Amino acid sequence: MSKREQWSSKTGFILAAAGSAVGLGNIWKFPYIAGENGGAAFLFIYLICILAIGLPILNIEILLGRETQKNPVGAFKAIHGGDSNWRYVGALGVFASFTILSFYSIVGGWSVAYTLEALMGTFDSFVIKNFSPEYGMSSPKVAGEFFDLKNSNPSWVLGYHTLFFLSIIGIILSGVKGGLEKASKFLMPILLFILFALVINGLMLPDSDKGIEFLFSPDWSKINASTFLLALGHAFFTLSLGMGAMMTYGSYLSHNDDIVNASYMVAFLDTVIAILAGVAIFTVVFSSGYDPTAGPGLVFHVLPPLLAQLPGGYIFAFLFFLLLTIAAITSGISILEVSVAYLVDELKFSRKKATIIMGILVYLAAIPCALSFNLLQDATIPIQGKAFTFFDVADFLASNILLPLGGFFLAIFAGYVWGIDSTVKALLKGDSGSLYFGNSILNSSTSKTIFGLLIKYLSPVLIFLVFLYQFGWI
Ligand code: PHE
Repeated sequence: MSKREQWSSKTGFILAAAGSAVGLGNIWKFPYIAGENGGAAFLFIYLICILAIGLPILNIEILLGRETQKNPVGAFKAIHGGDSNWRYVGALGVFASFTILSFYSIVGGWSVAYTLEALMGTFDSFVIKNFSPEYGMSSPKVAGEFFDLKNSNPSWVLGYHTLFFLSIIGIILSGVKGGLEKASKFLMPILLFILFALVINGLMLPDSDKGIEFLFSPDWSKINASTFLLALGHAFFTLSLGMGAMMTYGSYLSHNDDIVNASYMVAFLDTVIAILAGVAIFTVVFSSGYDPTAGPGLVFHVLPPLLAQLPGGYIFAFLFFLLLTIAAITSGISILEVSVAYLVDELKFSRKKATIIMGILVYLAAIPCALSFNLLQDATIPIQGKAFTFFDVADFLASNILLPLGGFFLAIFAGYVWGIDSTVKALLKGDSGSLYFGNSILNSSTSKTIFGLLIKYLSPVLIFLVFLYQFGWI
């Protein structure tokens, strides 16, 4: 049997894991959810969810991978025996990888398409001279119509979905070091560079302080139970938790590689990048006097004309969509890798065979999502009073159900089955010693207690409450 591949260095792992975490969640989703939910007030709750629930669960997920050197199904089997029901939690992850990628790849395809449209100068035609948001035909409206028109053509959506998908498959075929790690090492610095350029551009705009204020000075009246629901679901999504992506990446670590500090790094990078994306976007939106609550269309409807009307806007629009594409690719590979690792470990397929088979299956699963904007736009089911298309269902199922459910089981597993003592012992094995918040702030027994409380009580109870609320039971 060939030896399992590993990351070539600690930095390689951190960049790949950060690449997984930093994705459409940070640049497409976070700004619009924050925009719809009061900006800073949402940011505050979101940060609490990341720190108190996301970070401990991130540690546990990577740990399970590192200890077992297996995909999510194999990991639970390795620890708890082959016929243990825990393997279904792993299987839930493989199912989630299908669900997430089926809508993720459509948005990834849009990003590729918009990068090319920006390059061709299409967005210039969205700019209406002397545009003012109070008057009927606003430029985001024109951009929205363009977006809808393009999406009404199934071959346009499917074509770019295919392009995006092929790039992911190409990277995965090249293996852990030569594909996943190399792509992340190459793309993540470019992503950071582009993001800085966009933030500086945003900060130099007139009225940029209004955007900053929106993002950083909270309007507490906007907070209610559903803000928690959204913030918690998004914390899982943005840190790639609850479906075994981090577990699979952790399985390519060696037994004494550090997890605790790597988790801090990944969560820190992910959060900072989401906030910077918020700054880059809201400064542009506010400086144009536009409404920040545009929803999922924020980056595709609102930004293109707003960017295009700035001096040098052509290049900034191109850079923005390139940023989105890069972020989507480095996350997309981690989503598909879960299913590929499953076939490689459990059914002993070669990486090539596993990638091609899973690639085709997930590609096909995404087709109904691609058709949700045209041929299947009327095929909807009602969820929480709204008509959901296949695309909406996939997004809802992943962010609101599968990922928090996966997180719930991980917390239960570490807290009660494995036990906090063994979890902490294993976590500290490859580490310089600090478990939570670092030794300088808390001594280790206190940090262990905090970690235990978060994992055994806070995480499962909060996730459970969120479920009850979501289904209208409380
Ligand atoms: N974290 C990614 C993002 O923010 C999405 C993702 C979810 C990736 C689950 C892997 C697993 O876009």
